[in-house]
Amino acid sequence: MANLDKITEIEDLRRIAERKVPRMFYDYVDSGSWTQTTYRNNETDFDRIKLRQRVLVDMEGRSLSTTMAGEDVHMPVAIAPTGFTGMMWADGEIHAARAAEKFGVPFSLSTMSICSIEDVAENTEKPFWFQLYVMRDKEFMENLIKRAKAANCSALILTADLQVLGQRHKDIKNGLSAPPKPTIKNILNLMTKPQWCMNMLGTKRHSFGNIVGHAKGVGDLSSLSSWTAEQFDPGLSWDDVARIKDLWGGKIIIKGVMEPEDAIMAAKSGADAMVVSNHGGRQLDGAPSSIAAISDVVEAVKAESSDTEIWLDSGIRSGQDVLKAISLGAKGTMIGRSFLYGLGAHGEDGVRKALEIIYKELDITMAFCGHTDINTVTDDILIKGSYEYLKSGRPMLEPIRWG
Ligand code: FNR
Repeated sequence: MANLDKITEIEDLRRIAERKVPRMFYDYVDSGSWTQTTYRNNETDFDRIKLRQRVLVDMEGRSLSTTMAGEDVHMPVAIAPTGFTGMMWADGEIHAARAAEKFGVPFSLSTMSICSIEDVAENTEKPFWFQLYVMRDKEFMENLIKRAKAANCSALILTADLQVLGQRHKDIKNGLSAPPKPTIKNILNLMTKPQWCMNMLGTKRHSFGNIVGHAKGVGDLSSLSSWTAEQFDPGLSWDDVARIKDLWGGKIIIKGVMEPEDAIMAAKSGADAMVVSNHGGRQLDGAPSSIAAISDVVEAVKAESSDTEIWLDSGIRSGQDVLKAISLGAKGTMIGRSFLYGLGAHGEDGVRKALEIIYKELDITMAFCGHTDINTVTDDILIKGSYEYLKSGRPMLEPIRWG
């Protein structure tokens, strides 16, 4: 087992992953759409919210335990669904799912995963969540739902913000594919990633496990990219949500809600939770950060007297970020890149490390703010005005105007 004692923050894991993972897969993770402004703001906006330091408060017996969609969690952080995860590290979804279940947080499996629903179910003990992309091929989609049920998945995450795809320049320039095409550029880059190559040689899982062999016309890999581009359903609507909810019959989470109008629709749909998310800055470039969007969503859902939980993702790189999201009304959070950097750096151990880092930061920061139970944290831990100032969309320093 690698010694990870010197790894103390998510940024350490990012740096190691950057070194170890082939360029096209690292770039796929570490990028946002178009100008990447929303991607950057997701992180920088967290930094602009200031915390109130309290002293001489009894900080003994702290607890971060709570629930997300009725499931007990060791801290209010779940692993977000991410595509191509088995390309960051061989069998990556299985490693991440195992790290999550040992730590006591939920794991979400993407439709676009490398390991299939069945693969992950066979190699883990606890139920996980399945994330559904709604496809035009209804038979395939309904079959995916049945497969998730058969695998005992305990919630279905319906991703609502990817009916069309935000352009990420690097993916096009790198010719992103799973597995990578044997071009000279790729081969030269792979030669510098010996551990990744060795691990990949040890697994058969090199392409999209939920799709290849299950969807019409996708028997080989060459037809997959065109199939994906053609298959995401731009006609998805709230009526489909009701239909999918009936088909699934279990807990449902709607991911990608940013505006109060949509939040009200999500609450009325009877979802168990909604995730305030801009897909980690990978879809609508120019959208606000998720943290800037959450308070209006919380207010709108409260006015509906709905018990749909509100969660947040996009930009979480520390326990401080989690605490800020919780203080603004999130019942839980999800992390994408923070766990992917851990996975690319050290596989299952790296994901565990990422979770430990966030847990420790969250625990200590909560104590500094004078709380011992995560369930009692409210916006009274924030410096008054620092969030409102961020939400107003103004830069921190107004430019000086002469004349
Ligand atoms: C994603 N995300 C995502 N979401 C989803 O519903 N299905 C998917 O297949 C993917 N794939 C994916 C790949 C990669 C590489 C990333 C980084 C993200 C979005 C993901 O679930 C989550 O919303 C964001 O990752 C949250 O932002 P942070 O934590 O990465 O900043």
